[in-house]
Amino acid sequence: MNFISRKPWDPSLHKLTEESVYRNRTQHRRDFLASLGHGSIGLMASSLLIGCNEHKPDQKKLKAAADIQIPKASKAAYPAERNQAFTYGRDETVQEQAAIYTNFYEFSTSKQTYLYVDGFTPTPWEVKVDGLCDKPMTFDLDDLHSRFPLEERAYRHRCVETWAMCVPWTGFPLQALLKQVEPEPGAKYVQFETFNRPTEAQNIADSSFPWPYTEGLTIEEAMNDLTFLTTGIYGEPLPRQHGAPIRIVLPWKYGFKSIKSIVRITLTAKKPDTFWNVVNPREYGFEANVDPGVPHPRWSQSEEWMLGTRERFPTVKYNGYGDYVAKLYG
Ligand code: MTE
Repeated sequence: MNFISRKPWDPSLHKLTEESVYRNRTQHRRDFLASLGHGSIGLMASSLLIGCNEHKPDQKKLKAAADIQIPKASKAAYPAERNQAFTYGRDETVQEQAAIYTNFYEFSTSKQTYLYVDGFTPTPWEVKVDGLCDKPMTFDLDDLHSRFPLEERAYRHRCVETWAMCVPWTGFPLQALLKQVEPEPGAKYVQFETFNRPTEAQNIADSSFPWPYTEGLTIEEAMNDLTFLTTGIYGEPLPRQHGAPIRIVLPWKYGFKSIKSIVRITLTAKKPDTFWNVVNPREYGFEANVDPGVPHPRWSQSEEWMLGTRERFPTVKYNGYGDYVAKLYG
């Protein structure tokens, strides 16, 4: 596959650069990309060009993206009770700031994916759970909201691009769902797959990425207490741009592991292919644990900046969740 080596996840043109220089580079880059033609690679790289402080939210679009018609019984589960075991240790990110700066490549390579999700139908929805398990099952939204007690967790999130946020997710531990399908002893990995609907997501139609977006965990990671199957955010069902109607959240790993809009979960014996690892194995490893001591090949991971405030913090190994997960990597 012919992918440009410089990825949209390159923070070097964001905050760290003077605004005027940034704008000039941006124009230069647009010109360069224009000279490449209008293919997916050009679109992909241009996602670097939009910073959250420059964007004036389109309230109508924001509202439309959050208008999720889940069944009434499921809606009654929100807001769920907060699990007091988890605290941010920082200020919570303002809801709108999280909503206007998202990564969802199926729709757009810009950060303002909420502008491009109009055509996406997240309900009705089913998640198939299959592979090496004794009781393969398919769950619809009512199943997911009624069979598992929902709770709210205040998690820190760290993107490989160095931006970070603190948001309250609603969901339940993935282990609860996996226990229901009864994994076989040979199940060593879990693969996750996103929908693949070019008619609803323009960048699937327009780009040559290896769709559908997939991710994977070891079975031990999948069964860890932190691994959260997520149906909501800020006390409401997930808006489209955050991965409606169901996604994974893995607070100790870089954000690209937290796959959105999942349609299938498969237990396997073999390590599964994962989207960014296929695109660029040198830069996006399978494990992808947050680690300030391991720089990305093109930038440092020693610091992070918060959505909205742009406050900077030193990055902490496992994003500060070592008490839960360090034992998995000893
Ligand atoms: N899942 C899918 N299907 N497609 C994506 O492009 N982007 C990932 C992850 N999950 C992505 C995805 C990346 S890079 C990050 S940082 C997080 O989603 C961002 O989650 P948020 O946009 O809700 O903040």
